[in-house]
Amino acid sequence: MAKPRLLTGLQPSGDLHIGNYFGALKPFVDTYEKYDSFLMVVDYHALTSLKSPDELRKNTIEAVRTYLAVGVDPNKAVIFKQSDVPAHTELAWIFDCLVTVPFLMQAHAYKDKVAKGLEANAGLFTYPMLMAADILLYDAEAVPVGEDQRQHIEYAREAAAKFNKAFTEVFKAPKELILKATGVVPGTDGKKMSKSYGNTIPLFGSREEIQKAVMSIVTDSSAGIPENVYAMHKLLKSEAELAPLYEANKGSYKALKDALVEDLDAFIAPMREKRESISDAEVASVLADGAEKAREVSEAKMEAVRKAVGVR
Ligand code: ADP
Ligand code: TRP
Repeated sequence: MAKPRLLTGLQPSGDLHIGNYFGALKPFVDTYEKYDSFLMVVDYHALTSLKSPDELRKNTIEAVRTYLAVGVDPNKAVIFKQSDVPAHTELAWIFDCLVTVPFLMQAHAYKDKVAKGLEANAGLFTYPMLMAADILLYDAEAVPVGEDQRQHIEYAREAAAKFNKAFTEVFKAPKELILKATGVVPGTDGKKMSKSYGNTIPLFGSREEIQKAVMSIVTDSSAGIPENVYAMHKLLKSEAELAPLYEANKGSYKALKDALVEDLDAFIAPMREKRESISDAEVASVLADGAEKAREVSEAKMEAVRKAVGVR
C-alpha cells in the first residue's frame, strides 16, 4: 500500500537553536519516512516580510542545508522550493476568489504580525490561501506544523470545501500533524529557549559559542544541583547517566558546566560538520530534483483545477 502523503513548509529563516531541534526538527526527522514526504522551502511566503534578494537566496539555501544536516535523506523525501512550482501561486489566486475578506481577517497569525508592526501588505493578508494551495496541490493528508499554525490548516480545509462545493470535488481535506516534542527546551536563563529572548544555544554553534552560552547559564540551584544546567543536560543523557556526575560534583557548577559543554559539543559537532560539508551545488541539485518531482504531482492536480473552474 502507498504511504500517506505528508507535506510541510519551512520558513527560510536562519539561526536555529537546540530548542528548535528538539521541538521541531528531531520529531520531524523521526517521522518523515513513515510518509511519502514533501518538504518545501516557502520562499514566496517569506517575501511577505523579507525584501532582500541576497538574504532570501542565502536563507533558502541554509534551510535546505539545515534539513540535510539534521538527517533528512533527499532520496527519501522530496525537497523543493515553493517558487520553483508555479502552480502554488496560480492556485492561491483561485482560492483568493473563493474566500471573503472578513474570513481572512479572522486569521490570528495575520493579526499578530500586524500588531507587532509588520506591514499589512496584501500578500501577508492572503498568506493562508497560498499555504492552502501548498497543501492541497499534493493531496497532503498529514501536515506537520507547530501549534501556532493549526488555524492555517483549518483555512486550508475551508478552501478545499469551498472549492469542492463551488466547482467539482477536486481536493482532499488535510489534517494537521502536531508532532510530539520533548517538551519545552529551557534557555540559559531557565525560560523557554527562544531567539527573541537571547537565551539560546545555537544548533550549529562552534565549540566556543557553545562554551560561551553554557557559561552564561543562570545557576539557581537546589541541593547543590544547578537546575538550568541539569535541565539542558537531560536532553542529551538519561537521568541514570547523569546521577553519578551530579553526585560527584555537588555544588561545583564550573565542573558541571564543563561537562555540559563537552556533551553539547559531542552532540552538535557531527551536525555542524555535516552542514559545513554540504556545498551550494549539492543544495542546488537537491532542489532541482525536488522541483521536478513536485511539478509532476502538482501539475496533474492543477490541470483538474483549471478544467473545473473553466479556464481549460
Ligand atoms: P523562537 O521562539 O526561537 O522564535 P520559533 O517560534 O521560530 O522559535 O519556533 C520554531 C519551531 O521550534 C516551533 O515549531 C517550536 O515548536 C519549536 N521550538 C522553538 N523553541 C522551542 C523550545 N524552547 N522548546 C521546544 N520547541 C521549541
Ligand atoms: N506558515 C508556515 C509557518 O510559518 C509555513 C508554511 C507555508 C507551511 N506553507 C506551508 C507549513 C504548508 C505547512 C504546510 O511555519
